[in-house]
Amino acid sequence: MAPPLAAVSSSSPLFSPSSSRPIRRCHAPPPSISFQTRGRSPTAAAAAESSVSTLLEVRGLTASVKETGQQILAGVDLTIREGEVRVGSSWSRRLQFYWRLVIHAIMGKNGSGKSTLTKVLVGHPHYEVTGGTILFKGEDLVDMEPEDRSLAGLFMSFQAPIEIPGVSNFDFLLMAVNARRERSGLPALGPLEFYSVVSPKVDALKMDPKFLDRNVNEGFSGGERKRNEILQLSVIGADLALLDEIDSGLDVDALEDVANAVNGLLTPQNSVLMITHYQRLLDLIKPSYVHIMENGKIIKTGDSSIATQINEGGFKSIALV
Ligand SMILES: Nc1ncnc2c1ncn2[C@@H]1O[C@H](COP(=O)(O)OP(=O)(O)OP(=O)(O)O)[C@@H](O)[C@H]1O
Ligand SMILES: [Mg+2]
Repeated sequence: MAPPLAAVSSSSPLFSPSSSRPIRRCHAPPPSISFQTRGRSPTAAAAAESSVSTLLEVRGLTASVKETGQQILAGVDLTIREGEVRVGSSWSRRLQFYWRLVIHAIMGKNGSGKSTLTKVLVGHPHYEVTGGTILFKGEDLVDMEPEDRSLAGLFMSFQAPIEIPGVSNFDFLLMAVNARRERSGLPALGPLEFYSVVSPKVDALKMDPKFLDRNVNEGFSGGERKRNEILQLSVIGADLALLDEIDSGLDVDALEDVANAVNGLLTPQNSVLMITHYQRLLDLIKPSYVHIMENGKIIKTGDSSIATQINEGGFKSIALV
């Protein structure tokens, strides 16, 4: 089934273009804007304007725990493409722009390898890639340092976010943003300038600004840590965000705030890979594709109806073919 066409707004206070993508970001008018075609058929225009490129291409990925050599990933294949801006026409020959978002979810039993997959993608030092390939925007990730993967536009929100004692949230975010600006040849932001960037994002996530002064995740409740992860994403930006159980530990209202924040960040040129056990997250951030992982492999891919089926009948209810 084709993923849904969706309208998104880049004017959200949470929208933060990743500095690593200087040119390809969408310059099309929002979907509500339309104008008359002149001298060019809408079909030809649509063909000319529509293009999709691959963000992540994982082929035959195997990985083990570095210390013990225990194999966890047993040949993962996964492709994540950008969305697209497509031009169509209405009966009145008015051009209309459609933004197609592409969102992926991974589900699977406990211990099936979901978190390990995302950790291997970001270069977690506990794991060693023993075979296969990982291409991110055409670049081979396998030998790249974790910080370079991050600067290339990959973001990960951990299932259990760690504390960084002695580093305030504000300083951490400022350092991360300035590292990206430096890579793009932009001048560093000073604290005052940065405060005006981060403040609306804190407000949009309904966080107390005091969290900016606290050390990263130190003494944060489980839900506060998850919200803080999404604050990082909204400030730093990403071409591909890997969100590992972002819904765990969140109360109903917090889940909605976090989902709104993630939805506000989505554009046709970026994507999200969410790991979750629960339909309630997928009701709020609607996936185009749902992948099922078992024994270190993706064994089935389909649309969001798979998640509904799992929710109703458990993993045994889906035919794993
Ligand atoms: N560093 C490690 N050392 C030893 N075993 C590990 C390590 N990392 C992962 N594993 C094992 O690999 C398997 C997959 O773990 P992983 O955390 O990827 O599962 P998961 O699918 O995310 O599960 P959950 O849904 O419970 O979060 C588990 O059996 C886990 O114990
Ligand atoms: Mg996990």
